[in-house]
Amino acid sequence: MLQEQIPDLAKYVEPDRVRREVYTDPDIFELEMQRIHERVWIYCGHETQIPKAGDYYTVQLGRQPMLMVRASDGKIHVLYNRCPHRGNMMCGDRKGNAGDFFRCSYHAWTFQHDGRLRSIPMMESGYAGTRFGKDNPDCSMKRAARVENYRGFVFASLASDGPSLQEFLGASKVAFDDMCDRAPEGEVEIVPNCFRVIQHSNWKIFLENQLDALHPSVTHQSTGRAAHEVEKMIAAKAKKGEAPLSYHMLSAFATVTIDKWDAFQTLNYPYGHCILTGYMGLRPQDPDTLAYDKIMIAKYGQKRFEEIVNVNIHHVLIYPGLSVQSPLQQLRAVRPLSVDRTLTEIWHFRLKGAPEAIYRRSLAYYNLVNSPSTLVNADDLENFWKCHQGLSSNGGDWVTFGRHLGRDIDKNGVVETAPNCGTSEAPMRNQMKAWAEYMRG
Ligand code: FES
Ligand SMILES: [Fe+2]
Repeated sequence: MLQEQIPDLAKYVEPDRVRREVYTDPDIFELEMQRIHERVWIYCGHETQIPKAGDYYTVQLGRQPMLMVRASDGKIHVLYNRCPHRGNMMCGDRKGNAGDFFRCSYHAWTFQHDGRLRSIPMMESGYAGTRFGKDNPDCSMKRAARVENYRGFVFASLASDGPSLQEFLGASKVAFDDMCDRAPEGEVEIVPNCFRVIQHSNWKIFLENQLDALHPSVTHQSTGRAAHEVEKMIAAKAKKGEAPLSYHMLSAFATVTIDKWDAFQTLNYPYGHCILTGYMGLRPQDPDTLAYDKIMIAKYGQKRFEEIVNVNIHHVLIYPGLSVQSPLQQLRAVRPLSVDRTLTEIWHFRLKGAPEAIYRRSLAYYNLVNSPSTLVNADDLENFWKCHQGLSSNGGDWVTFGRHLGRDIDKNGVVETAPNCGTSEAPMRNQMKAWAEYMRG
């Protein structure tokens, strides 16, 4: 039915432009959920969100309410948050501990942490001779078709076929390597609460913005300029003439101008993933950084330490649901709710074994740049809403992605932006290329 309504997706996507209905048509949204979000590997959460047996955390994958749960043997399972009896949601809280097993609040069917039916009250008297009982898999909670964990980051796919998680991630797994390698113990730990923001715009508008190097010096200029003024005042008063790094996190939006952004590069990979190379100086020579460096050198040796801290990444986009800023231990997960509503979860992490001051740095970036209370985020949210409003009008049919078209360099399927083309719209072209491939089924 849906396919009859959308007979030729190719007419919606051209190499340099996309029809506006791609962002506003509820039928296209439904098809996206079927063919993209409920098929590919989607980030569920970090294993440290559920450290103990029975711990669970709810998460939305496509349109499906799911549970990520830790079993007694330590294994992590991802289950549909639904009782097989009459469909009651198994866990109504966002997170918690199920105890030794799940127990449905409606008629007390119980289930193991891996979803298998454990007991039905009065099973013999009520169900003898019926199809209902322990041997019928329909009486167990349904599991996500596939669950995999990469360095503590748990992903699930609701389709039984498709590439493995590592094949899917490809080069974009550097996001997790970069984050974990920066920890003296080689692991990160999630800070177990996140900001949740519901954006009144289509999910793709957020993802397209993540590696849009053209917008920061325009959209965030006023925020950056105000921070830069304060930074200069603080620096003038400081003994060594330097303001703390947190001022730089905001002032960079003014001091890194469009011509400087052009000097950076995006690398665009299969499946829609993209990397934006680094632009922020994150290695000041303050006592906190030096203390961290000392611990890292003791752990890894000078050579490996240099390799780790010189990984030059600002941002990794793992299409279609994750935006990671590994050097500052941040990530944002995208959960589409409807064609014009998108939930983002904004998380940050601790580097295991690193001094508290390094965590405070990550927290500062989290609050100053990515939280709902910062002007940076507000600037973006306003654009997202305005984009969705404009695209809902009859003022034009196309969204255009033509900047630096034709200058991309294709190296065996990896598209690099040419020198001084950092503000290219190649990442958006790459995302829409992947979108069209997924949507063709
Ligand atoms: S709906 Fe869960 S036990 Fe009845
Ligand atoms: Fe922005």
